Amino acid sequence: MILLDVLLPGESGLDLLRELSRDQTDIVVIVLTGYPARPDMSEALRLGAASYLCKPFDPLVLEGLVTAAQHTYEAKRRDRARACAVEASLRNARAMLEQVPRHLARGLAGAWDLRHVETGAHVRRIGAYSEALASSLGMTADDAETLGQVAMLHDIGKIAIPDAILAKPGRFTTEEFEIMKAHPKIGAEMLAGVAHPFLERAAQVALRHHERWDGSGYPGGLRGEDCSYDARIVAVADVYDALGQARCYKPSWTDTEIEAYFVEKAGRLFDRRVVEALLDGRPRMREIAKSFPDPSEGQELTSGVLKVGTRVSSTGSAANDM
Ligand SMILES: [Fe+2]
Ligand SMILES: [Fe+2]
Repeated sequence: MILLDVLLPGESGLDLLRELSRDQTDIVVIVLTGYPARPDMSEALRLGAASYLCKPFDPLVLEGLVTAAQHTYEAKRRDRARACAVEASLRNARAMLEQVPRHLARGLAGAWDLRHVETGAHVRRIGAYSEALASSLGMTADDAETLGQVAMLHDIGKIAIPDAILAKPGRFTTEEFEIMKAHPKIGAEMLAGVAHPFLERAAQVALRHHERWDGSGYPGGLRGEDCSYDARIVAVADVYDALGQARCYKPSWTDTEIEAYFVEKAGRLFDRRVVEALLDGRPRMREIAKSFPDPSEGQELTSGVLKVGTRVSSTGSAANDM
């Protein structure tokens, strides 16, 4: 608290008050003057002085003003402390909220281990491939990491596909393939309805990861950049994984075969830029594949389900839902 005289040697008390008001300090100022002038008084109050007192004054009046100013100051401090506490808990809540979808992505990958273990390994690899592709395409580290987690949910709609189809060890009939093709829409519906940027992004990727650059994909037959960049990245990661993994009906494709396939399909089925990032980043992709291997032969989970993988569909694709 400052008891501030207006007339001071050098600069005036009002100049000091002006400086204090610019710095927005908590200091309470009571202005005193022996030469009261209405414009000075108004200016002092405008600059934030708590009150204004003309000399000579009764010390009791000053005491009253000081006490009142002190109460105001303490109330302000309490308010500020409360506001800080509210802001801190909001920050925590926001941080927690941001973590929820990420835990959800990881948790659901774990859930796949109980339902269809190869899909669990697949979605983890797709997450890591998509993040690597996105960052080599120039996405920020945060954005690429988020896309990686979003990508882990791309096949979430397969949860609605019956085991008889999801885990079928042979070729799909046309009807079965049609049922499998419903998984993008089902996944998008599962993730939609909550206005959360992560889930909205995940719903888009779930819906569009089987679209193809030339419009031959599903469910929308979107062409080129009508399909989101995220989904174009995940589409490449998804097919790269399907080709690179061994299945009961086929060995994994060799690096040369995979490379030849993507070179041929760049600009036809896939965004050329994404394919280039994939081809440039092959060593990293191979490392990722090693980090998240399919379960080994005979490996079973306690739930007793599984043992199978993607297969050649009746349409002759290299994977059942390509
Ligand atoms: Fe899919
Ligand atoms: Fe997939």
